[in-house]
Amino acid sequence: MQDPSPWIERFADLIPTGGAVLDLACGGGRHAHFLLQRGHSVTAIDRDVTALTPHENLEIIEHDLEDGSPWPLGARIFAAVVVVNYLHRPLLPQLVAAVAPSGLLLYDTFAIGNETFGRPSNPDFLLRRGELAEAARGKLEIIECFHGRIEIPNPAVKQQICARR
Ligand SMILES: C[S@@+](CC[C@H](N)C(=O)[O-])C[C@H]1O[C@@H](n2cnc3c(N)ncnc32)[C@H](O)[C@@H]1O
Repeated sequence: MQDPSPWIERFADLIPTGGAVLDLACGGGRHAHFLLQRGHSVTAIDRDVTALTPHENLEIIEHDLEDGSPWPLGARIFAAVVVVNYLHRPLLPQLVAAVAPSGLLLYDTFAIGNETFGRPSNPDFLLRRGELAEAARGKLEIIECFHGRIEIPNPAVKQQICARR
């Protein structure tokens, strides 16, 4: 399995101990399993969950997040909401709302400028400058925010935020 995002690794210690975590658009579950190993229970959502390895503390939800169906988690809140390499803008308010008191939003995905490196290059999948901070404004305290070129695992332009309720 691919290593977790360095951004998620870096801030994982700030997630309240033992708290439940949401891994949105989890893919093969590299962050879900990283967080399970750290003692969190994890809810992992993706439209394709076939690559996920089951675990007693892993709740797997197969769900299309973009087909207009209702948000599958109701009013549930999480000690951390983790999103890596996925963007569906209409979900941003929902993701902020799903952060529990003292919990974290850890978001790391591609941003405007990435089109010079390749895909994704469609602006629908690229965060605009300041967009995550704007989504958090008035609701979460920003611990750290980044928009720029990264080199690992590959050259890309990303926007990343760690913000706390
Ligand atoms: C680039 S992968 C990132 C996976 C994981 N977050 C990671 O960092 O390894 C994007 C993920 O978004 C999921 N995805 C794309 N569109 C989706 C949708 N409409 N509903 C749910 N998941 C979706 C894909 O199935 C894929 O697993």
